[in-house]
Amino acid sequence: MTVGHSLSIEDRVRAIVTAHDGERGRLLPILHGIQAEFGYVDEAVVPVLAQELNISRADVHGVITFYHDFRKAPAGRTEVRVCRGEACQAVGAENLMAHAQRRLGVSTGETTPGGDVTLEQVFCLGNCALGPSVQVNGRLYGRVGTERLDTLMAEADAR
Ligand code: FES
Repeated sequence: MTVGHSLSIEDRVRAIVTAHDGERGRLLPILHGIQAEFGYVDEAVVPVLAQELNISRADVHGVITFYHDFRKAPAGRTEVRVCRGEACQAVGAENLMAHAQRRLGVSTGETTPGGDVTLEQVFCLGNCALGPSVQVNGRLYGRVGTERLDTLMAEADAR
């Protein structure tokens, strides 16, 4: 469903809620819909969802923070997702993530000042045999070490 951008944020959120009318467990698909519509889940949607779904703001918050899928601020121009799934952990994913955090000066889920890079974690990219796996702007890379990660980030930044 396409929602016209001349509508207010609240109206756009309500339209997404309406699109999932009658579904069981609809908060998650609604939140995915909001992220698809706005690029992230803004704090301002919490009271609207609480009211529309007749649940507490704390419940909405709980779901947003529990699932790592939801971004709380607009993403940077480059999105780096480091896999922390079991198979990747066994071949150095934690080291890779720590390196990315140091290098970018951000924690997981944050964006560098200026909006250049957002660092995200995922828990499997379906590339387990070739870990550590990393996705940069939607492209998957395997056997990524710290140097390769630096190169990938620099290349993405140069585009
Ligand atoms: S655990 Fe990293 S790709 Fe599957």
